[in-house]
Amino acid sequence: MAMRVVALTGLKGGVGKTSTAVNLAAIAASAGYRTLLWDLDPQGAATHCLDLKPKLKGGASRLVGGGRGGLERVSRASSIKHLQVVPADASVREIDRVLSLSGRPSKPIRKLLAGAKDDLDVVILDCPPGLTAVVEAVASVSDLLLVPVLPEPLPVRALDRFRDFLTDTRSASPAILAPFISMIDRRKPLHRRTEAEIRSRTDFLGAAIPESSSVARLPEEQVPVVVGAPRSLAAAEYRKLWAETAERAGI
Ligand SMILES: Nc1ncnc2c1ncn2[C@@H]1O[C@H](COP(=O)(O)OP(=O)(O)OP(=O)(O)O)[C@@H](O)[C@H]1O
Ligand SMILES: [Mg+2]
Repeated sequence: MAMRVVALTGLKGGVGKTSTAVNLAAIAASAGYRTLLWDLDPQGAATHCLDLKPKLKGGASRLVGGGRGGLERVSRASSIKHLQVVPADASVREIDRVLSLSGRPSKPIRKLLAGAKDDLDVVILDCPPGLTAVVEAVASVSDLLLVPVLPEPLPVRALDRFRDFLTDTRSASPAILAPFISMIDRRKPLHRRTEAEIRSRTDFLGAAIPESSSVARLPEEQVPVVVGAPRSLAAAEYRKLWAETAERAGI
């Protein structure tokens, strides 16, 4: 199987990108895929959730600036079999500038991924929020862009802006955008109404990740819900999301 790249992106912060990246990475790895979770957020939330030190060996500028060594030099084994992590520290903040200056932002990232393609089946990129040079680069190397969307007065406009961004930067076809419902609480009438509206759209995936305390405990317990509570509804929805991701990305 050729290596596939899936990214968690979106304009909004705090909507479940990192939680999803970690859980999908755990599912992929447990299914036996050689998986790499690349933490592209200087806050290092994904790194922390997998109980790894927030330390990117040599710093981010060296990694994306064409210094010697590829992803294998900076990858760390996680406690989950088959799951490697490229951790983030504060230096990851520099990636945006390095990529902006490089003329073609995707080039350094593409090169790093190309160097790892024989050793990996699945790469999951956890992005910081916003439409930045990092996201432009990520879009152009990804097979699928997963975008968590809260089921609140339609964030359709944010999705439209994302589409325009992909078209304007010519980084990727908007067809690779895969929005899904995140943090839904069906006790809230607003969430139920918005979910019904979203179901009439064809662009959203079918999985809807519930608002759940077992998901929220991830940063504290450092165990993904799909590992710690595999029978929970949240775990089932993450598995459904993975199945849809795998289908759309050709995994
Ligand atoms: N399904 C969920 N149910 C309950 N809490 C959740 C859920 N998903 C995420 N959270 C919590 O919401 C907060 C934000 O989640 P997360 O870090 O995954 O979002 P993010 O989109 O990556 O945020 P950022 O944009 O800051 O990187 C975290 O405290 C996380 O534990
Ligand atoms: Mg995050």
